[in-house]
Amino acid sequence: MNLTPEELQTGKENFYAAIGSEYTRRDFLAQSLAAAAVAGGSLGGFYYGYSQADVKDPVRIGVIGTGDEGNVLIGALNPNFLQVKAICDIRPYNVYRAFEGQKIGSERARTVRKGLMNVYGWKTREEADKNVKVYQDWKQLIDEAKDNGIEAIVIGLPFQLHAPVAVYAMEHGLHVLTEKLMSSSIGACKDMIRTAVASDCLLSVGHQRHYNILYANAAETISSGLLGDIHFIRAQWHRGNLPGKDSWQPMMPGDSQLADALRKRTIELERATAPGVKPDPKKIEDLQNQVKEYTAQVADKDVDASKYGYQAHEIPAAYGLPAYQATPLEELIRWRLWKRTGGGLMVELGSHQMDAAGIFVTAMHEKVKGTHEKVKPLAVSAHGARNLFNNDREIDDHLHCIIEFPHPEYDAADPQSALRKIEVAYSAVNGNGFGGYGEEVYGTKGTLMLLKEQEVALFKEADTSAKVEVKKSDELVLDTQASGPSQAAAKGAAALADVSLGYREELEHWAWCIRNRAPENKPRCSGPIGMADAVIALTVNVAVAKQERIEFKKEWFDYTSDETPDDSTPTVKLPA
Ligand SMILES: NC(=O)c1ccc[n+]([C@@H]2O[C@H](COP(=O)([O-])OP(=O)(O)OC[C@H]3O[C@@H](n4cnc5c(N)ncnc54)[C@H](O)[C@@H]3O)[C@@H](O)[C@H]2O)c1
Repeated sequence: MNLTPEELQTGKENFYAAIGSEYTRRDFLAQSLAAAAVAGGSLGGFYYGYSQADVKDPVRIGVIGTGDEGNVLIGALNPNFLQVKAICDIRPYNVYRAFEGQKIGSERARTVRKGLMNVYGWKTREEADKNVKVYQDWKQLIDEAKDNGIEAIVIGLPFQLHAPVAVYAMEHGLHVLTEKLMSSSIGACKDMIRTAVASDCLLSVGHQRHYNILYANAAETISSGLLGDIHFIRAQWHRGNLPGKDSWQPMMPGDSQLADALRKRTIELERATAPGVKPDPKKIEDLQNQVKEYTAQVADKDVDASKYGYQAHEIPAAYGLPAYQATPLEELIRWRLWKRTGGGLMVELGSHQMDAAGIFVTAMHEKVKGTHEKVKPLAVSAHGARNLFNNDREIDDHLHCIIEFPHPEYDAADPQSALRKIEVAYSAVNGNGFGGYGEEVYGTKGTLMLLKEQEVALFKEADTSAKVEVKKSDELVLDTQASGPSQAAAKGAAALADVSLGYREELEHWAWCIRNRAPENKPRCSGPIGMADAVIALTVNVAVAKQERIEFKKEWFDYTSDETPDDSTPTVKLPA
């Protein structure tokens, strides 16, 4: 039976009592939310212990790489914490989007990629240009950073560029927040951390689940013992991508569909503004924006990608499949499909979910052993396959792996205790999006599901009929009856509906750490934590390539050691 909001409000059912816990998660969540609402602060600040009041002067930043994700980060910026002084990108389309925001595509895409002008309230591009310098050369942006008052860099580049740009920036005394995966090799991850230590810069890695309150709350739920003994985690990211319709194969600027879209909007605009036609200002503005954005997208065709190191690929005909040739521009735009520039499904998708698995396993260890250090896995077995797509790529389209984490009672030296593990089974497939993406945590008393980073559901043991849902959506079903006055609870519920996936909090917290330097004020996904996620993701890829079960070595997770799982070697020497 699903519990209705009314049932939850009146307390007809007490799911938590039913599964025998003293602790009521509804209390925890409701009190937290209500307190945040009453305090008038941001929910992230309340949850993660930072405050806007401590950031009197916004941190001045440059954003390098303003593509899809760089623009999500720009859209999530809180101007009270961060001031963008410069951006750098080599694609005219993405420079355009950085300022104007996205005006075509899905509602969600348009909402999250607001653009700098929207974020900072600049009315015209001229006004925006007075505030933000535009670069094509990231080295030049960093070299001139101090002259422009820039103190820190956000990196939204493809993963093979994270390390060189981050290291160069920190060598110039700039703090760094880089997108995940931290780097394409573990040697380079270690270089990034060593440079951060040597330069005393703050390095943050963009695994946003560390800043999503649903994950923080899930960890609390686990460490409270509500789910019992955790023994299994299942995670998946299933997408309906198919040949000819693949989100990792975005349109190229020379594609006829793009030219057609531009032509169609241009004609519609001409008609809408023709003499004798009653003007519809909203429609005209919308069409003007679309024409501008498609024009910017087509302008990408003139980018000389080889000048920036992008390479051509030639895949010979095989197994009845035709040969395929990709230009350097294709590698730039479809970088996820090539091994030089992309790490495949585990790097792009699974790394977030293994990060989440690590958060859950760590919460379990906290409950039993009282330790807080992020728990590292023991071993991985993995398999990858390309079942669907043609040879227009190097990466697999199916990935499956089992990662073994230690249970808190695990002890390698004792034959019985050595069996005590928490298994994480992961699959990422294309061709069928059934089940979407999320993580399920199986305990001896209950099951916790996190769906699409936005919804939580709890089940009593295997009984999927007794369910409490917490949703970040309009039809929010948040049980708050057990705590406080109803007004505060309602405010809490409203606050939850507004919570971001964590991007805003990740940026705010990084800025707060920069302005409030102290050994304990570190990004929640710091260099070593981001590197642990990279070790897992890149070792999965090694396991797929070697078709072997691989045992993780603790030295791989230690930035002071030169050992790595992927034959890479750090080059930066540790400070003496
Ligand atoms: N945290 C998340 O949930 C999440 C989601 C999506 C992507 N990402 C990560 O964000 C990063 C970027 O992904 P994306 O989807 O935005 O890709 P994208 O291709 O849309 O954006 C990358 C941008 O970098 C620019 N660029 C490439 N080389 C450059 C160079 N030498 N100099 C200047 N600019 C250059 C490109 O022109 C492009 O605009 C990746 O590491 C990806 O894994 C993270």
